[in-house]
Amino acid sequence: MKQADKHTFSTLSLNSENMYHGHLILVNRYHPIRWQNDDGILLNRMRLIDGIHHNIMLEHTAAAMLGKLLKACNAEHGIVPVSGYRSKAEQKNIYDQSLYENGLEFTKQYVARPNESEHQTGMAIDVGERKEEIDFICPSFPDHGVCRTFRQRASEYGFIKRYAKEKEQLTGISDEPWHFRYVGYPHAALMEKHQLCLEEYIQFLKNYEFHGEHLLVDDEAIEIYYVKAGETVTQIPLVDGARCEISGNNVDGFIVTLFHQEYSDGYR
Ligand code: DAL
Ligand code: ZN
Repeated sequence: MKQADKHTFSTLSLNSENMYHGHLILVNRYHPIRWQNDDGILLNRMRLIDGIHHNIMLEHTAAAMLGKLLKACNAEHGIVPVSGYRSKAEQKNIYDQSLYENGLEFTKQYVARPNESEHQTGMAIDVGERKEEIDFICPSFPDHGVCRTFRQRASEYGFIKRYAKEKEQLTGISDEPWHFRYVGYPHAALMEKHQLCLEEYIQFLKNYEFHGEHLLVDDEAIEIYYVKAGETVTQIPLVDGARCEISGNNVDGFIVTLFHQEYSDGYR
């Protein structure tokens, strides 16, 4: 029996355009950012990652979790945040400058076109090992020492290494050891466990529609299901009492994550 059968439901009516927002949106060359004005995103949802890097902002949950991850790895001095939120205009400048300096082949591999970059969502962070010269587009992030610890522990804090060599055909971007994307827990851990990139994970979650089996995680404490978007309005069934997170997938629907355990442990 799927977990949700044991519970009572409410239904939330959402404007289907909400599917372009949330921690699980897929952003790539086939699924560009769909909102028009990034000023609204900046003002409502971003914060500086800390009191040191005054030019680096992230979406507020991603910023908080990055701080916790760096602390857990004792990496506050060994790892440098290099680039976080970028406006569309900034992404365009970076793309154009790379095109001029590095040519099309390199730029296509390592720089997304404006509106096709996760950096515009505020949920992507480039990190580099601390050294005198840090390359802005391809910072060094070796697979040893504190950088390795950071990568190994990233999923506990909701981050994934977004661009892997073996997934280049799917992501359209070359291996980027420095680029981490916040998707939240438990999604990052599931992606790592099943070795799925975000393109694959969004597809995988469609196996768990609300009316079928749900994806159960952590001894059924967490429950995940997919709701296909309606043409203009989407009815999202929610379990009464459980904390829920809803995210659009930026493709065709919503992903609901229910946290039962937190509720019974006295969350709220
Ligand atoms: N480096 C990644 C692909 C970006 O520009 O968003
Ligand atoms: Zn990046």
